[in-house]
Formats: sequence, structure tokens, C-alpha cells
Amino acid sequence: MAKEKSRFSSSSIWTEKYRPDNFDDLTIGHENLIKRARAFVTSKNMPHLLFAGPAGCGKTTLALIIVKELYGKNRRENFLELNASDARGIDVVRQQIKSFARVHSLGDVPFKIIFLDESDALTKEAQQALRRTMENYTETCRFILSCNYSSKLIDPIQSRCAVFRFKLIDKKDIDEKIDIIAKGESLKIDEKAKSALYEVSNGDLRRAINLLQASASVDKHITENLVYEIASTVKPTQIKHILENSLDGKFLEAREKLFDLMLKEGLSGIDIIKAISSQLTELKISNEKKLKIIERVAEAEFRLVEGSDEFIQLEALLASFGVIGR
Ligand SMILES: Nc1ncnc2c1ncn2[C@@H]1O[C@H](COP(=O)(O)OP(=O)(O)OP(=O)(O)O)[C@@H](O)[C@H]1O
Ligand SMILES: [Mg+2]
Repeated sequence: MAKEKSRFSSSSIWTEKYRPDNFDDLTIGHENLIKRARAFVTSKNMPHLLFAGPAGCGKTTLALIIVKELYGKNRRENFLELNASDARGIDVVRQQIKSFARVHSLGDVPFKIIFLDESDALTKEAQQALRRTMENYTETCRFILSCNYSSKLIDPIQSRCAVFRFKLIDKKDIDEKIDIIAKGESLKIDEKAKSALYEVSNGDLRRAINLLQASASVDKHITENLVYEIASTVKPTQIKHILENSLDGKFLEAREKLFDLMLKEGLSGIDIIKAISSQLTELKISNEKKLKIIERVAEAEFRLVEGSDEFIQLEALLASFGVIGR
């Protein structure tokens, strides 16, 4: 697995290259989580852990740091990383766990660590099997399970783990990380471009870093436009104009801008619908009107997903905004 190979070596992928690899490098808070993790490392003792939270918020990073701090140079022997959604299925995963867990840990930490990513992708049956595996190898192994939704895991697993809840990264922290990388890579980055990175990534730091890298491969001067272009999403102001025009009854203007976005910038109907719904809060109209718009947007989204023609659906949507705006 390419992912595994890159783990402990330098990498040209920025999410890896700039991944903090000890507690002091963590620029992003999660303070009480880090405190708990440090305590485990100091005492060389820890329960099974469950890391729950949205994508790109630092779960893997913290797990890797725990492993590194616990085992130092012995980490290769004492650490196994698996992905639960792996196509090879849970049986292979169980075999791997078994042969890894059978052999005692190397060095002065009495257990090995198995990091199981996307554990909420496991079926209920697979989770039962995992639970038994966790019990069987309690002596020699600790699990760190990573997932987006802890509620998707069966209770017996949740109750066997100390739960760490991760949050989306806020703008200040994303900005700080972007600045560090921009410095390291000698990029010039506009303030507005940073806002764009945050807007598009929605608190997913991995997405923000990947976008930065993709943008930088086009131009070392990162601008707002470049970011939106690379992300091929709509600039919030563009959508806002379309919405305002259509609410003001300027249907033709709104439609022209809309078709521009779709034809020239290659955005799909669904992209536009999502952008509209995220811009709604910015509009200066009554709540009653907003509710009506939300209803219409949801209907259009449903039709698009069902396979309706996106141009016709979006045109109809804009027309209905005109009626609502009256
Ligand atoms: N505490 C932190 N301080 C600074 N940078 C961080 C921190 N945590 C994560 N990062 C950066 O954010 C990127 C994404 O983090 P990570 O891969 O740990 O997310 P994740 O929660 O495992 O996401 P996923 O659920 O998608 O696997 C990393 O590549 C790293 O560069
Ligand atoms: Mg991860």
C-alpha cells in the first residue's frame, strides 16, 4: 500500500510532508485530546481508543504521533495500520490482525497498536467479529479505531474504548497551517485565497492542503480565483449575484450567469444547488422567503438526483425565486 510506505518517510505530498510528527509540532488545538494522549504515552499504558470526527481533522495524525512517541525506532514492528473499508474484506483484516497480534511487542511497551481506519464502514457482523478480536488480544494489542460517526459502531465496541471526539478545524487554525506551508514552499498567497481555501474545504484541513498544493502546481502566486478554479466550485459572490438577480425579477440576467457557470466553468447542477444552499444565510430577505427557497432547492436537488435535465431544473428554480421575491 502506497499509503503505508509514505508514512514514515519524507513525501512530496504536502499532507504527509507537513504532517506534524510529535506533540510539540501540533499547531492545532484539540487541547484536551492531546493532553490525554500525552498521558498515555508517559505512562506507557492506554485503553483502546476510538477517534471520531469529520474528515481531515487530525485523527490519523494524532494516532501516528502516539505510535511514534511510544515506540520510537521500534515503531515498524509494533504498529499495524489497516483500513476497514478495504475491498479484501474483514476476513483478511482478521487474519492480518491475528498474525500481527500473536507476536509480542518489541521494546519496553507491553502492547502493540493496531490502527483501524474507517471502522464505521464495517458491517454489524464484522463489528461483532472485531469486538471478539479486541477481547482476544487485549494482552498484546491496543486498537485505535478511527471513524466519522461513532454512532455507527455497536455499543460493545464503543464501551470498550476511550472516545476522542475531533472537531472541524476553524479558520484561524487552517490559516496558520496554510501560512506554514506557504513559507516552506516559497509561495505567495493572498488573504482572499486563504478565505477561499477555508470556504471550499469547509474545515477539512486535508482538503485545504491538497487544494493549496494543486493550486501551487499551476502558479506560485495563489489567488482567490486560482483556488476556486482548481476546486472547480463556484465563487460565493457569483452565486449571490445570481440569487439576488432572480429574486429581483431579473430572470434573464440570472439565467445567463447561471449558464456561464455551468457551460464555461463546467459546474454541475448539483454543485450549483449546493452553493445556493450554502449562500442562503447571506441573503437579506425575510425568513419566510428563505424557507420557501429552501423548499424549492430541496425539490430541485431531488429531481436532479433522479436524473432530470439540469438546465431545465435550474431555470425553473430561478423562475420560482422570482415569484418568491415579489
Ligand atoms: N494537530 C494538527 N496540527 C497541525 N496540522 C495537523 C494537525 N492534525 C492534522 N494536521 C494536518 O492535517 C492533515 C489531515 O489530518 P489527518 O490525516 O490526521 O486527518 P484525519 O482526521 O485522519 O482524516 P480522515 O478522516 O479523512 O482520515 C494532515 O496531513 C496534517 O498535515
Ligand atoms: Mg485519517
